[in-house]
Amino acid sequence: MPYRNNGPLLVTGAAGQLGRRVLHHLLATEGVPAKEIIAVTRRPEALADLAARGVVVRQGSCDDAAGLARAFAGAQRLLIISTDKLDVPGARQRQHLTAVATAAQAGAKHAVYTSLYACEPGSPVTLLAPDHYATEQALAASGMGWTAMRHTWYTDGLLGTLAQALKLGQLVTAGNDQPVNYVTREDCARADAAALAADSATSTRYDITGPSTVTATELAAIAAELTGKPLRVTLVTPEERTKALTAAGLPPPIAALVASIDVNTRNGTTRGVSDAVQKLTGRAPQSVRDFLAANRAALAG
Ligand SMILES: NC(=O)c1ccc[n+]([C@@H]2O[C@H](COP(=O)([O-])OP(=O)(O)OC[C@H]3O[C@@H](n4cnc5c(N)ncnc54)[C@H](OP(=O)(O)O)[C@@H]3O)[C@@H](O)[C@H]2O)c1
Repeated sequence: MPYRNNGPLLVTGAAGQLGRRVLHHLLATEGVPAKEIIAVTRRPEALADLAARGVVVRQGSCDDAAGLARAFAGAQRLLIISTDKLDVPGARQRQHLTAVATAAQAGAKHAVYTSLYACEPGSPVTLLAPDHYATEQALAASGMGWTAMRHTWYTDGLLGTLAQALKLGQLVTAGNDQPVNYVTREDCARADAAALAADSATSTRYDITGPSTVTATELAAIAAELTGKPLRVTLVTPEERTKALTAAGLPPPIAALVASIDVNTRNGTTRGVSDAVQKLTGRAPQSVRDFLAANRAALAG
C-alpha cells in the first residue's frame, strides 16, 4: 500500500532490536521522509546515527506518562512496541495501557501494536498472553483506529535454544513434537513498518507467522545437518519441564512461562500459518531452515 503523507509516523521502543529494524524499513519506504519519522526511546543516545539521517528522536518511557505525552506530540500513526518488563507482575500491562491512553489523548489517529499470536483468554501462555490481550482490548476501546500485529515466536530465539541443546546433545520439550509457526524478527519488522506506513484507517488483526511450521524433531534434524553434531529430542511433561528449568536456576515465574509456551505448542495452537507477511510486505517470510542456515555460526554457541 502506498504511503500518502499520513505522518508523522512514530515508533516506541525504537532502540530495541525490533524497533531499529522497523526504522530501517520505514526509511526505505518510498515517499516517507526521515523528518516524518519520530523514534521514541528511553535511550536517545543509542539512535544518534538515525538522528543524523534526519529522524526525529525523542526520549520517552511507558513508565512516565507526562514525558510520553510530550514525546507523542504531533504523531498521526504510531507503532507501540510491547516492552520486555516481566520481573514485576502487572508492570508490563500498565506500561502498554499508558502508551495506548497517551496516544489517544495526544490525538493520534491510528495505533499499530506488536501483539502475540493466539493471545485470547484461554491461552495457557502465562504473563505474555494476558498482557497482550488486555492491550488489544484497550486499543479497541481507545477511539483510535488500530492494527494488532499478532507476532508468533521469533525464529531468532531458536539460535540460543539450539546452541544450548547441541551442547547437551538433546533438545528437551514439553510440546509433544507439535508444529510451531516461527517467524523471524526481521519479517515482523518489515510487516510492522508496512502496517504503520499504510494508508489504512481500518481496525484489524494480523497473524504474523512464518511460511510453514516445524516440529522439534524437524528442528533437531536441521540443526544436526547444519552443524554435523548429533541432536536427539527428549519429550517430557509440562510438570517435568517446569521442575527441570527451576532446578537449572530460572526464576519460578519464568520457568512456568517457558513450560506454558510448550503447553501452547502441545495443544496444537501454533500450527496455523498466515499469508499476512506476504500480503503486507510483498515478500514471502523466511523459513526456519533458511534462517538457521544463514546464522549457522551462532548454532556453534
Ligand atoms: N515473539 C517473540 O518471540 C518475542 C521475543 C522477544 C521479545 N518479544 C516482544 O517484542 C518486543 C520487541 O522485541 P525485541 O527483540 O526488539 O526486544 P529487545 O531488543 O529486548 O527490546 C526491548 C524493547 O522494550 C522496550 N522497552 C523496555 N522498557 C520500556 C519502557 N519503560 N518504555 C518503553 N519501551 C520500553 C525497549 O525500548 P527502548 O530500549 O528503545 O526504550 C525495546 O523496544 C519485546 O519487548 C517483547 O515484548 C517477542
